[in-house]
Amino acid sequence: MVVLIGFMGAGKSTVGRIVADMLGVSFVDSDVLIERREGRSIREMFDLHGERYFRQIERTVVAELLEDATSVLALGGGAALDPEVRRMLASHTVVYLDVPYEQAMQRINGDSFRPLLQTSGVREIYDRRLPLYEELATVRVDTMGKRADDVAVEILRFMVPPPVLADASSRLVATIGGTYFAHAGGGLLERAQELIPAADAAENIVLVTAERDASIAEAIAGQFGGRTVIPVRVDDREASKTFETISRIAEQMADHAIHRHDIVVGIGGEVVCDVAGLVASLFNRGMPLALIPTTLVAQADSAIGGKNAISLPQGRNLIGTIHQPIAVVADTNVAAGADQRGYAAGLAEIAKHALLDSAAAVERLLSLAGRLRAAIRSPCIRRCATARSSRRRSSAGTSGSPVSGRS
Ligand code: S3P
Repeated sequence: MVVLIGFMGAGKSTVGRIVADMLGVSFVDSDVLIERREGRSIREMFDLHGERYFRQIERTVVAELLEDATSVLALGGGAALDPEVRRMLASHTVVYLDVPYEQAMQRINGDSFRPLLQTSGVREIYDRRLPLYEELATVRVDTMGKRADDVAVEILRFMVPPPVLADASSRLVATIGGTYFAHAGGGLLERAQELIPAADAAENIVLVTAERDASIAEAIAGQFGGRTVIPVRVDDREASKTFETISRIAEQMADHAIHRHDIVVGIGGEVVCDVAGLVASLFNRGMPLALIPTTLVAQADSAIGGKNAISLPQGRNLIGTIHQPIAVVADTNVAAGADQRGYAAGLAEIAKHALLDSAAAVERLLSLAGRLRAAIRSPCIRRCATARSSRRRSSAGTSGSPVSGRS
């Protein structure tokens, strides 16, 4: 359970909902639940029965909500005043969204539903509460001038620390469809099992791979001892991106009674990642997916961001879904190997992302050009993951949504 606290207008409800979506858990706003239960607005409760009445109900509702271990919970700005609520919060992860008074007032300006805004002395209330928020906070996040989705990603970075990997980087990709790490570095294939923790819960592992990567797939299969591994071959060519390929794989999975808690692992280049991703998004109405891209273009682009597709005679990638993986493991030692076309296309992707990013990123890339093959891979792939992550967030509809109060 993650609990968001902070003054009115800090963005607890807006940010809380995004964090919950990114974690794939439910979101609860204590004020909304109180209003539903009482059948009237908080303003009416204050007017009819006074603040003390509201606080009693608030305490009961918060106690109930804190029993749910998985949700994200946003509390009303005054909930933390109650000593009993403070005691209960001590055993939870409490995120304090800090907002300067002036900005809070700007965000909730003219709101007639918040009873305290109808009184004088709001500034004093703000000043009195800050030390309480500080004291309760497991972590404090400054929301000044930030977009709601950026605040949400900051919270996730705190909540989901990356594993410590020598000679590798782990980038948190936070999207509305799921939050996961894209790991990039030399020798990561040997650590696939550790980096795909959800595979532990699976009974069956469907390994979708190209013939070219059969030995990699075999080594990975060896790491998942005790699980039934179902190997599925896909020709790593554009021509394989068809409904026929999808239904062939799906039928193989059905033959093995693959269920929702099993996992599809795609090991290969662009085509394998696309096909594995699409099958995982459709089979059982969607099931866990992990990607182990083996070409540079798949590592820098295709495997990150949840996109997948097959093609029609009329055009490439016309049929597809967005289905976020639970982990991406890019072993940079394998990227330069087998597939020259994939390598060249990967370099082009990296250049594209640098151009999209900033002049500094382009400069950095140019300065590495001489020893490109060996040097650019890990940090550049990480940069692509970042660019992909923020673009996904934008296209998921949260772009530019300001941090605001209740929405
Ligand atoms: C309150 C804040 C409100 C709501 C009630 C009291 C407060 O929630 O619980 O009006 O005492 O600060 P928000 O913080 O979501 O505005």
